[in-house]
Amino acid sequence: MEIIICQNEDHVGAVGAAKVAQIARRVGPGVVIGVATGGSPLSLYAHLASRVEAGTLDLSEASAFALDEYVGLPIEHPESYYSVIDRTVTKPLHLDPARVHVPNGSLEGLETAGQRYDAAIVAAGGVDVQILGIGANGHIGFNEPTSSLHSRTRVKTLTPQTRADNTRFFDSEDDVPRHCITQGIGTIMEARALVLVANGAHKADAIAAMVEGPVTSWCPASVLQMHPRATVIIDEAAAGRLQLADYYKQTYENLPEWQRLDVR
Ligand code: F6R
Repeated sequence: MEIIICQNEDHVGAVGAAKVAQIARRVGPGVVIGVATGGSPLSLYAHLASRVEAGTLDLSEASAFALDEYVGLPIEHPESYYSVIDRTVTKPLHLDPARVHVPNGSLEGLETAGQRYDAAIVAAGGVDVQILGIGANGHIGFNEPTSSLHSRTRVKTLTPQTRADNTRFFDSEDDVPRHCITQGIGTIMEARALVLVANGAHKADAIAAMVEGPVTSWCPASVLQMHPRATVIIDEAAAGRLQLADYYKQTYENLPEWQRLDVR
């Protein structure tokens, strides 16, 4: 696992965008990007958008697959992940909406929606780079603690903590849906590269458990230890509980030329 500790949230976004742009350039125009919602990747998307606007990155032929969606929230709702992805990813990155996929959280066909979503990812050739955030309880996607590390895309029940954390996007906690459809941990692990971004002291325990704790479904993100190309990009506050923080900093500062990122 590569750990990059940044001065602040904007720097996390700049480094994350550099990593995603590097992979996109290597893969070519048809790159398949896995996208997360939530606050953590917004700076990364803003930095990617700057590259697109500057003409140094073209994602017009790229495909995108979102991690998750609320169950039962109409897609027109401003906080449905369909709407959030359209607003924060599809439009600013000039993606072709026909190639942007979000799991279907409508009640009709819900039983098979997960299987169909996994099949669509395979049909697109698999995800080249998956952008991830992490919940304060260590979830990735909406795979809450004790999710199977081999799980596939399916319906899950959100924990009270996740519903409380996401109340900020709704009028009240009662309005936060109780169920979601999320890529499984097994699905996420099939992406050829993972880029996880996180900011703030409230993520410090989850980051320490993910990076330096045991691999356990109690901290679903700890499964990243098993991925051959996982990069974790965090600010100083989120790195606050890492025992080897100085080592990770030294490693990043002394990368050989060919491994360095073009951070803008
Ligand atoms: C979002 C997602 C979640 C979030 C996590 C962190 O699609 O899958 O795992 O990444 O809940 O959310 P923020 O970034 O808002 O702290």
